[in-house]
Amino acid sequence: MSSARNHPARTADLHAVPAAAPLAAQQPAQLAWGRHYAAVRPDHFRVEYAINPFMHLDDQPDPALALEQWERMVATLRGLGAQVDVLDQRPDSPDMVYAMNLGLGYVDARGHDAMVMSHMRYAERRHETRSAEPFFAAAGRATSFVGADGVGPHLEAGDAFAFGDALVVGYGPRTEEDALAHLARTLEVRVRGLRITHPGMYHLDLAFCPLDERRALVCPSALDGPSADALLDLVPEPLVLTEAEALSTFAANSVVVGRTVVMPACPPRVRTRLEEWGFEVVIVEVGEFHKGGGSIRCLTNPLDVTVGRDLPRVEGGDVVLPGAVEGVA
Ligand code: ARG
Repeated sequence: MSSARNHPARTADLHAVPAAAPLAAQQPAQLAWGRHYAAVRPDHFRVEYAINPFMHLDDQPDPALALEQWERMVATLRGLGAQVDVLDQRPDSPDMVYAMNLGLGYVDARGHDAMVMSHMRYAERRHETRSAEPFFAAAGRATSFVGADGVGPHLEAGDAFAFGDALVVGYGPRTEEDALAHLARTLEVRVRGLRITHPGMYHLDLAFCPLDERRALVCPSALDGPSADALLDLVPEPLVLTEAEALSTFAANSVVVGRTVVMPACPPRVRTRLEEWGFEVVIVEVGEFHKGGGSIRCLTNPLDVTVGRDLPRVEGGDVVLPGAVEGVA
């Protein structure tokens, strides 16, 4: 036995990353989705009613500044190589700028573009679908409905994200639990439900942002105890945001294109971790839109989540709720 093998440095050597290993081999896979978005040009954006705690009728956005911020956001995404399709805003729908909530776009297991249209919780937002559905249908998407005009379960697509083995869907303030089984059957995927209890994080996209195959920004304080545990179990490497960070910076309401995270703001601690993980942080100021309760993720709607690539196909679909024992019917 050589003396070197008993040297204390041996243990450390075993854990050292070989210097020659390519960076890609050490990195979890990038998200394959997030290269194609829909967005709504804010020509009629205003705060006309208050349906979330951020909205105040006496704090109106400046229309010119809002348009400038939105244009910079779209240019940033296009500059990163993403496709952004633009819809016109209906004059009767001041919140339509939050395109994330128009519907859940996806590519089905046979490779066909599809979208489950949202059925908004508040009547004030339901007109949006009347323009969104024909727009997406004309673009070649097979559209379907979980409910409409107040009949059937509510679904707001800002509550739904592909991550891990499932479509992760927040329910409570906006999306209703009954929508989950519908999504599971329609997409033929597993849906993992998370119960949102925080009134300020009324959509999952204010508290959860997938970063890559293993990592996500998560704010467990948006959820009840079992759901917070379920989310932390689902994400192998969570970057946990405090309630104050999520609410005051909208940091979870960000968009990821490959290894770039386009964020409205980034607390220094969060930036350090993202950069250690190999992400580049790009800040785009969209403060006018915070007055309506949404930020970069809310202003964009990813259309390229693909069943069989980003989400395993599950014949007939299934729904897993926190607290339920998996594998037991
Ligand atoms: N005022 C909009 C609403 O309350 C804001 C939507 C924010 N969008 C989002 N995906 N979180 O519905």
